[in-house]
Amino acid sequence: MDIQIKETRPIDGQKPGTSGLRKKTRTFMEPHFLENYVQATFDGIGGIAGKTLILGGDGRFFNAQAIQVILRMACANGAARMVVGQNGVLSTPAASNLIRQRGADGGLILSASHNPGGIDADFGLKYNGPNGGPASEGVTDKIFERTKSIDSYKIVETQDADLSTLGESKMGDMVIEIVDPVTDYAALMETLIDFDAIRKMIAGGFRIRFDAMHAVTGPYAKEILENRLGAPEGSVVNGVPSEDFGGGHPDPNPIWAKELMDVMYGDNAPDFGAASDGDGDRNMIVGPNSYVTPSDSLALLASKAHLAPGYSKGLAGVARSMPTSGAVDLVAKAQGIECFETPTGWKFFGNLLDAGRVTLCGEESAGTGSDHVREKDGLWAVLLWLNILAASGKSVADLMGEMWGEFGRCYYSRHDYEDVDAAAANGLMDALRGQLDDLKGQSFGPLTVQMADEFAYDDPIDGSHSARQGLRILFEGGSRIVFRLSGTGTVGATIRVYLERLETDPALLTLEPAAALADIIAAADQIAGLKQRTGRDGPDVIT
Ligand code: G6P
Ligand code: ZN
Repeated sequence: MDIQIKETRPIDGQKPGTSGLRKKTRTFMEPHFLENYVQATFDGIGGIAGKTLILGGDGRFFNAQAIQVILRMACANGAARMVVGQNGVLSTPAASNLIRQRGADGGLILSASHNPGGIDADFGLKYNGPNGGPASEGVTDKIFERTKSIDSYKIVETQDADLSTLGESKMGDMVIEIVDPVTDYAALMETLIDFDAIRKMIAGGFRIRFDAMHAVTGPYAKEILENRLGAPEGSVVNGVPSEDFGGGHPDPNPIWAKELMDVMYGDNAPDFGAASDGDGDRNMIVGPNSYVTPSDSLALLASKAHLAPGYSKGLAGVARSMPTSGAVDLVAKAQGIECFETPTGWKFFGNLLDAGRVTLCGEESAGTGSDHVREKDGLWAVLLWLNILAASGKSVADLMGEMWGEFGRCYYSRHDYEDVDAAAANGLMDALRGQLDDLKGQSFGPLTVQMADEFAYDDPIDGSHSARQGLRILFEGGSRIVFRLSGTGTVGATIRVYLERLETDPALLTLEPAAALADIIAAADQIAGLKQRTGRDGPDVIT
């Protein structure tokens, strides 16, 4: 096979963010952009000669083309075997599972997650390590360093690999194995979740609606929810993946999954609604007239996971990202288990999961997962919820009401200011950082600041230190505001403002979140000058 060494030069802007490299699709399609990053990844992980890698993506525009380039580069770099999802498709959790099941050396996942797809939308690529999880900061730093000095990449000239036929073929000495994307994942779910109990509940008339948002989970949900669990055909909607996600924004939250919200808040709503994102790792849970926030969902799953066979022994511990609400902390305290607070980004859970310190973890950004893989897992969360509903015989609203009654309710909301001028966003954060030391004792309306700091994380397993992970302001009584800049955007800067208040008065557990948080929202603007610095009247997205 003819291995070509192509000359190249470093390209700016190849720094991986919260979850790999995300860019406009057209940027990824520019000459050498993809190739540089792939070669830097191979070099950054110490080469791939003789290695086995898993490869797949969420099927968005440019997915299949990029896979062909990566295969030719993997071949030129001496990979022994590439295990590829049929037609280049693998959900992120399914890819994580395959890495683990095959004992592979890692994997490349092509996705921009919940960001829209298409030639004028977003694309992304990330490397996951042998544990199945996103590369640690140490590894992504090495990849980034390499992007800054790269002067050539290796690729073979050959025709495109057939990605549609299951089984093995060869490209030079490298084996390409095409696998069904769903089979192994569905089998894993059957080991964790009580499928019989859910099947019985559905046979008894329990109705579900799963919105795959034209994204990767369609085939997974159809196989598991309809074929294996007996939900009537049509329970999975928007189940045929498309390259641009039907022109939509495949992010499962009340705004982008409005179609599902309308059904769940309408007449004759099904008993359970759920949605997942572009690459299948996020989830949204909603009962009739009752949307469950991701932070509450994590807490509920932590409190009831023992009802599912995979977690019947209880949980070793739990973890949440810092901006996620403290609801799960309350559950952990009651169970007498450890609860860890990590920076935003699934990669920070990896060490805790590997060390067996936590079983369940989650984030406010609609991600929940467990030690079954090293990614968050949308469909898994849906199945665990269904298992809990079946085993308890209770409704979504009943379960939430009970939990709030026991622990209090963490009213929670996130306000996003999107595509803000980067200088203005950094200016806001810098000014706030400069103010932190003076805030203590100051009052904003009825709220008095108890503590303000910049969150940093010392990984308890490998001792690594991650600085500058968000500014937090705690008020007396337990309310909190967190300010962060998003690490997943592709244009300008996104300022995220996370607002939280714990309410334990039994008479005040069913307020509208916006009303319950009004004082905190006002304080956030007063402290950070959000309106003035962004020039916006209010946030672009409220979750
Ligand atoms: C991705 C990551 C998550 C993260 C989320 C938001 O989904 O996998 O770990 O919470 O993005 O990140 P951001 O930096 O945009 O707030
Ligand atoms: Zn995702």
